[in-house]
Amino acid sequence: MIKFALFGAGFIGNVHGRNIAAHPKAQLSYVFDVNQHSAQALASSLGAAVAHSPEEIWNSNVDAVLIASSTNTHADLLEAAIRAGKPVFCEKPIDLNIERVKGVVQLAQDHPVPILVGFSRRFDANHLGVLEAVRSETIGKLEILHLTSRGPTPPPISYVKVSGGQLRDQTIHFFDLACWIAGEAPLEVYASGAALVDPAIGEAGDVDTSLVILKMPSGAFVHIDSSRRTGYGYDERIEAFGSQGLVESQRKPTGEVVLYKGQQKTSNGLHAGWFERMEPTFMLALDAFVCSLEGQTSPYPNLLDGLQAQLIAEAAAQSLQTNRPVKVEYWLPSTPALS
Ligand SMILES: NC(=O)c1ccc[n+]([C@@H]2O[C@H](COP(=O)([O-])OP(=O)(O)OC[C@H]3O[C@@H](n4cnc5c(N)ncnc54)[C@H](O)[C@@H]3O)[C@@H](O)[C@H]2O)c1
Repeated sequence: MIKFALFGAGFIGNVHGRNIAAHPKAQLSYVFDVNQHSAQALASSLGAAVAHSPEEIWNSNVDAVLIASSTNTHADLLEAAIRAGKPVFCEKPIDLNIERVKGVVQLAQDHPVPILVGFSRRFDANHLGVLEAVRSETIGKLEILHLTSRGPTPPPISYVKVSGGQLRDQTIHFFDLACWIAGEAPLEVYASGAALVDPAIGEAGDVDTSLVILKMPSGAFVHIDSSRRTGYGYDERIEAFGSQGLVESQRKPTGEVVLYKGQQKTSNGLHAGWFERMEPTFMLALDAFVCSLEGQTSPYPNLLDGLQAQLIAEAAAQSLQTNRPVKVEYWLPSTPALS
C-alpha cells in the first residue's frame, strides 16, 4: 500500500481524497488544510488522520503526497516535498509566477523525486485515441490540430482575479494536450480574445472568449478556442487533420440513447460541467502515479510538462496584451557540471 498525505480539502482535494481511499493500492493517511473544519470533515469521512502542520507530514512515514491546495501554495509545498524526498502528485499550475516555477524545477533537477503534474485530460480515453492516430501517422502528417474548450458558465469574479486569466487557467490544459498530441512544442503563439460573456471579466483585466494559434516546428498549426459560456453544457473536443485523414475526440454526450419519434430525433446532450465530463480522468491519473511508483518509472505528465505549458501560456498572455505573435522562450534547468 502506498501511504498518501493530501494537502487541500477543497473541491478537487475531496475528489483526490476519495480516489486515494478507493484505490486498491493506496491508503489515505493524512489530510492537511489550513481550514481545519474542511480537513476534519474529509479525513473523518475517509478514515484518515488530520495533520496539524505540514511538518507533521514531512516527518511522517507517508510514501507520497498529493497537493490539491490553493494555487499559491503549490510551489512552497512542492519544494518542501522535494526536500523531504517524498514523491508528489501536484495539481496544476505549479505557480503563477514563472520565475518561481523555474526555481521549483531547478530544485527538482538537483534533488530528483517522482513528480506528476495534474494535466489529467491526458488520461481521457478519447483524447488518447487522437494521440495514437497522430503519433502512428494513421492520419498521415499532422497539418491542423483544433482543440475546443467551452465551459457552461464563467467562474466567480473573485476566482477570475486570482486565476492568472483564461489562458493560464483554462487554456493551459489545451497547451499541454496540443504538445502531447503533436509530439512537439510551439515556436510561436498568437492569441486574441475579448470579454464577450461578462463585462466584469473584462474589467478584471481578463477575457472570457479567446482564440490561440500555435505554430509548430514541423509546420503544423494548432488552433485552440476557449469560452467561459455555452448554453448547452460542457463542450470539449479535439480534431486532428492530417495529410491522409482526420481523427476526432468528439463532444461526449452523457449517454448513447437516441429516440426517434415522428420526424424528430432526440439524443443525450452534454455534461453539465467540465468535472462531470472529466471526472474519470482523475482516478486514471492517480492510478498512473501509483503504477509509476510501484514500477519505479518516471510519472507523466511531469514537472517539465507543467513548465512547458506555463511558458506557452505566458507567451499567449503576452500576445493577447500586445496583439502580436510572440516567440515562446523555453527554459531548462541546468544540470550539475561533470567533474
Ligand atoms: N486539473 C484540473 O483540472 C483542476 C481542477 C480543479 C482545480 N485544480 C487546481 O487545484 C487547486 C485547488 O482547486 P480547488 O478548486 O479545489 O480550490 P478550493 O478553493 O475549493 O480548495 C483549496 C483548498 O486549499 C486550502 N488551502 C489553502 N492554503 C492551504 C495551505 N497552505 N495548505 C493546505 N491547504 C490550503 C483551502 O483552505 C481550500 O480548502 C487549484 O490550484 C486549481 O488550479 C485543477
